[in-house]
Amino acid sequence: MFRDPFTQFARWYSERAARGTAYPDSFSLGTADSSGSVSVRTVLLKEYGPEGFVFFTNYESRKGYQLSQNPAAAMLFYWPESSRQVRIEGIVSRIPENESLNYFMSRPRESQIGAWASNQSTTIPGRSFLEKRFAEFEEKFRGKDIPKPPYWGGYRIIPSWFEFWQEGEHRLHHRTVFRLEKGKWTRYTLAP
Ligand SMILES: Cc1cc2nc3c(=O)[nH]c(=O)nc-3n(C[C@H](O)[C@H](O)[C@H](O)COP(=O)(O)O)c2cc1C
Repeated sequence: MFRDPFTQFARWYSERAARGTAYPDSFSLGTADSSGSVSVRTVLLKEYGPEGFVFFTNYESRKGYQLSQNPAAAMLFYWPESSRQVRIEGIVSRIPENESLNYFMSRPRESQIGAWASNQSTTIPGRSFLEKRFAEFEEKFRGKDIPKPPYWGGYRIIPSWFEFWQEGEHRLHHRTVFRLEKGKWTRYTLAP
């Protein structure tokens, strides 16, 4: 185990793909509103490092609404092929608009249209409503660059807590926690 959780994460993250994990960039994201109601969903990790962990979404989605009330977030990576999980907790903020724009521009055209067509997490009359909206935006932007919707962009999670979990024999799993204390990462071992 490294002394620094970001180096440790980078090591495990690079090892998980070699084991053939499906959706190797995905993680479970937990958020809660101001009353403490919790929800979890899968999103894709797009960047990671000492600056934090970045994912992209609709700021007006349910998760966006919860994060606007309560910026605390929890991430869970489970890599069964490696018998490992990583848990990360921290505080979320929106990334700068120009960074969201750069990433949006790099996406396939269909995904860009999808971002316009879907007001994520809102109730819709049905599938055909969505397909009609998609076709409408396809037509609207035909032959043009597609602008980024103002409500779409990235969040960066700045961690203050990590746990690296590795399966062990006889249920004696290995659990290493890193906690940020007065600006320094301190490492602990937890009972499994
Ligand atoms: C493998 C996988 C990857 C996903 N990646 C994203 C993502 O990067 N961003 C996103 O907004 N939703 C992603 N989704 C959809 C979310 O799980 C979720 O349905 C959506 O964001 C709405 O969540 P909310 O209503 O809680 O805000 C992904 C789903 C799966 C299964």
